[in-house]
Amino acid sequence: MLIFLIGFMGSGKSYWAEKLSTSLKVPWYDLDRIVEEREGMEVREIFSNKGEEYFRDLEHLVLAEFVDGFTASENIQAILSCGGGTPCFRDNMDLMNGVGKTIWLDPPLGILVSRLDKDSGKRPVLAGKKGKELENFIELKLEERKHWYEKARVVIKEPMPTLQNIIKQIDHD
Ligand code: S3P
Repeated sequence: MLIFLIGFMGSGKSYWAEKLSTSLKVPWYDLDRIVEEREGMEVREIFSNKGEEYFRDLEHLVLAEFVDGFTASENIQAILSCGGGTPCFRDNMDLMNGVGKTIWLDPPLGILVSRLDKDSGKRPVLAGKKGKELENFIELKLEERKHWYEKARVVIKEPMPTLQNIIKQIDHD
């Protein structure tokens, strides 16, 4: 079984993937990093040189290939941290729900804004937005994407979850 960490940019997907990987002793992969290795380019460059549609096709292809590499099993075999948009394009959410557990990290808007305000430069979707403009954009985008994120098997809403709590929720699902 695979564990997929999904959620908006800045929701802590990579942070928790690393913690879970260490604690559960299973390997952690990051979808954006696999895409970048395959393309020999950073995500930011793929967006600007080839466009978002190209990136979404590649993201889907890499996800489908990743999933194919694992057998059906009850045991957790790997953790994959996804990009913020992964669940919202192609049939990625159904693909992930078909082979593992999707965990939506859903901290409050204020936390996302404060994290992304410090760190929006490397994210093409945010295109250097700051302050109130950034907050309005995140609020709108979240509303737009919620419909897909809500298909997750497990939702972590706490602003500061603990590792134990996340593991408990994964186990209890
Ligand atoms: C995106 C989020 C990014 C990356 C790409 C698009 C999005 O991942 O996949 O820039 O559409 O939300 P992170 O959520 O890791 O920043």
